[in-house]
Amino acid sequence: MYQGLIKRYRHLLPVDDSMEIITLNEGNTPLIEVPAVAEAAGFSGKVFVKYEGLNPTGSFKDRGMTMAVTKAKHDGMKVVMCASTGNTSASAAAYAAKAKMSAVVLIPDGNIALGKLAQAMIYGAKVIAVQGNFDDCLRYVKELCAKYPIALVNSINPYRLEGQKTAAFEIVDDLGYAPDYLLIPVGNAGNISAYFMGFTQYKETGMSQKIPKLWGFQASGAAPIVENRIFEKPETVATAIRIGNPASWEKAVKARDNSLGRIEKVTDQEILFAYRLLATTSGIFCEPASAASVAGFIKYAKDLEKDSTVVMVLTGHGLKDPDNAINQAPEIFHVKNNLKAIEEVVI
Ligand code: F0G
Repeated sequence: MYQGLIKRYRHLLPVDDSMEIITLNEGNTPLIEVPAVAEAAGFSGKVFVKYEGLNPTGSFKDRGMTMAVTKAKHDGMKVVMCASTGNTSASAAAYAAKAKMSAVVLIPDGNIALGKLAQAMIYGAKVIAVQGNFDDCLRYVKELCAKYPIALVNSINPYRLEGQKTAAFEIVDDLGYAPDYLLIPVGNAGNISAYFMGFTQYKETGMSQKIPKLWGFQASGAAPIVENRIFEKPETVATAIRIGNPASWEKAVKARDNSLGRIEKVTDQEILFAYRLLATTSGIFCEPASAASVAGFIKYAKDLEKDSTVVMVLTGHGLKDPDNAINQAPEIFHVKNNLKAIEEVVI
């Protein structure tokens, strides 16, 4: 029986037998081929999505959280805390509940998707909506965790990236080889750094031949790494990556350069086009931030080597953000309670 990523990859993770593993059986997410997306971009190679929305709380954050909360519990901490655009808060709240710990989450008031807010609340976290953006929230969290015995579980906690790197292992294990390219959304820049760690470790331990080229994508209204400047007022429909001053900025630049990759920006319009395309052509529903990978693929497919293998990371589930889905979809039909009215619409 699958029992989570720590158990599966413990020989490659900083854990020992004295630790009680806090897990919700995260990881082991499917790699799904999406030929319709390849065709839409006029690309001849093999194209897959790594559907991280199928983790227990609906995002890749669970990979990092199983590690961070396991470590916090082992250290005798009682409270975990994070700043979040939504997914980290949902994940921290769930793993804290499982560990019988408390969670405090700081979110930018009015700028997180409805599903994520619902999750943090129902898992029992103390939810603090700050009249500021994610970067402000992270600053406060760092100060409070330095002052009180509270475990910080944002991705500046090194255990987070250790857990997240296992997605790279799974991709190589599933394909049987390392892909040529990995395309991924970039917000606080932890995840691209974690994939680089994972692919590097697999190469160094002889589990794969090479490190894929990492191509990161930021929203054009929140593109600090692309433009090499802090965005004081980041703006994008993809609220998960509405970040102006990423904590892992330098690590992401290193991941980009050492993998011979690139970090580019995609507009909200391009993100939403990709979001709908993936759903309507492939039956896969991700959240807008995740569609930045697909938008980047469509925009830059012309620069990819012919017949190469591409993996796009879909970081979060579409159900996280029902408002955007409803806004982007065709109207529904409202009808009277009789067969004739329904028949008229059907035929
Ligand atoms: N995609 C989704 C769905 C996310 O929630 C995030 C980050 C990213 C991509 C970007 O990943 O920050 O490692 O570069 N969400 C964080 C949060 C910031 O608070 O949930 P990153």
